[in-house]
Amino acid sequence: MYERLPEPAGDEILQVASAFREDLRPEKLDLGIGVYRDASGNTPVMQAIKAAERDLVSTETSKAYLGFSGDERFNRQLLRLVLGDQVSERTCAVQTPGGGGAVRLIAEFVRAAAPEASVWIGTPTWINHRPIMDHVGLTVRQYDYLDRERQVVSFDQMMSALAEATRGDIVLLQGCCHNPSGADLSTEQWSEVAELAEKSGFVPFIDLAYQGFGDGLDLDARSVRVIAARVPELFVAVSCSKNFGVYRDRVGCAALMGRSAREAERAKATLASLARVNYSFPPSHGAAAVRTVLEDQELEASWREELEQMRQRLFSSRVSLASALRNKTHSDRFEFLVAQRGMFSLLGITSRQVQELRHRFAIFMPTEGRINVAGLRETSIDRLADALGTVIEGTWR
Ligand code: LMR
Repeated sequence: MYERLPEPAGDEILQVASAFREDLRPEKLDLGIGVYRDASGNTPVMQAIKAAERDLVSTETSKAYLGFSGDERFNRQLLRLVLGDQVSERTCAVQTPGGGGAVRLIAEFVRAAAPEASVWIGTPTWINHRPIMDHVGLTVRQYDYLDRERQVVSFDQMMSALAEATRGDIVLLQGCCHNPSGADLSTEQWSEVAELAEKSGFVPFIDLAYQGFGDGLDLDARSVRVIAARVPELFVAVSCSKNFGVYRDRVGCAALMGRSAREAERAKATLASLARVNYSFPPSHGAAAVRTVLEDQELEASWREELEQMRQRLFSSRVSLASALRNKTHSDRFEFLVAQRGMFSLLGITSRQVQELRHRFAIFMPTEGRINVAGLRETSIDRLADALGTVIEGTWR
């Protein structure tokens, strides 16, 4: 039967990663996959996580199963981190294998609860959003998210598309540090989305994968909190991959808010039973480490501080790159890098120019021209600016 398998759809982000690995040029530069790197190019294990892991090794007495919804103490801590003062008896969470696992579980929840609902997805968005919705069998509709010319959210277009969403439709939004564009909604714009959701009855579904990488932990969660204060129902897919640096441990949760405590409880039981038919139990280790950090004041303070340094490094790389590009191109074409947030920005170059950067300069990124700002080091900023200036020369005035 294997010979009847269709060719699997490739994942461009992983293809870029493997092309980078195979390239032998010593000066090669990886601006592809969304993994944080420090000034020396490493993706460190955060100090608070290391300390929590040491603690777990010495205190853990059993590896017997947890429930299908994972570690309840972890779930409570994540609700606090994400929802802040919006935590109530109407909110609950289920631990999932990473943020991607949460997106998938919520998609399945929607399929079970409202198979007729359309899921509205922004364009562009994370490369895996659409495949997950398609795979689960949901109807997808798209809304324009980005004004590519000005490199800001095309808010008017987005809102007029979303005005067509009907009661019970799902609107997928990214809470902060938009992947791939780095262009986020302002607090006022989040309020307008909340107002529209309230009026038309669509259910917001917020993917929050980079909390703490944009404007700070609480400010990055304003999306979720502003919406939660207004709407009766809400989904949030939370990832700890980036802000706790636990990528391969697969740590996240599917959080939701219902109309009442009873509805939330029922929804949580549904998520747990969907976990059961998928993978039974989420992996324990990474979530236990995150929970240990969040339950210990000192460890939490250390984690917050390290995360803040990471956030500042991202911002200062943005400032330095924008300035190098200003000098190189004698234009303000790339000033948007400073206004955008998080790891990603779209350079606004053609796929041919992306290929040229790879072939001539050993600079790797996906064809859409997304860069991971965290992949830059002091020494590579000028190199990228020079190479970029060269490939776009004559094409942009
Ligand atoms: C990315 O967009 O590069 C990351 O979120 C990794 C992934 O899973 O795609």
